Amino acid sequence: MGSIRSFMVLLVLSFQSISSKRVTRVTCVFSQSCVLPCSDSSSSDVIINWSRLTPADGTVHCYYGNQDQLGQQDQNFRGRMSLFTDQISRGNASLLLTGVKVQDEGTYRCNTSGNKLVFIHLRVEAPVSDIRIHQDGNRITCSSEGIYPQPELT
Ligand SMILES: *[C@@H]1O[C@H](CO)[C@@H](O)[C@H](O)[C@H]1NC(C)=O
Repeated sequence: MGSIRSFMVLLVLSFQSISSKRVTRVTCVFSQSCVLPCSDSSSSDVIINWSRLTPADGTVHCYYGNQDQLGQQDQNFRGRMSLFTDQISRGNASLLLTGVKVQDEGTYRCNTSGNKLVFIHLRVEAPVSDIRIHQDGNRITCSSEGIYPQPELT
């Protein structure tokens, strides 16, 4: 009984260390491009496997045999993900995401042949850019659109 209890405590502790310590937070700007950092220490036969864990499982980008392997790639990421191919041999396994969408928010994992797992939490921001002010008699309307997350109004 005592050993079962300590086993459960251990499980909880190891889960917490994954969920808090090793997660890198990255904030991306809506519609821009964004780099998810990861490095690799293998010298040859590099394997890079980027996947998304939440909100939905999916393969984001795979690389092995010295080339991109796009067969398993999730539809949502098609044509928007690339590696810095010229830097892979120097240990750069970072992922370049273009045309960031709000739906890209979530937790990503980078798994390489020569490294520990790297977890990235991606957040999307769409800053206030264009506020229109319109006067109609004694009524003034301010409007804007495409702001994310939803702003507080005062
Ligand atoms: C990988 O290369 C890109 C492009 O040069 C750079 O922005 C990024 O910081 C590099 N990342 C790492 C982990 O070396």
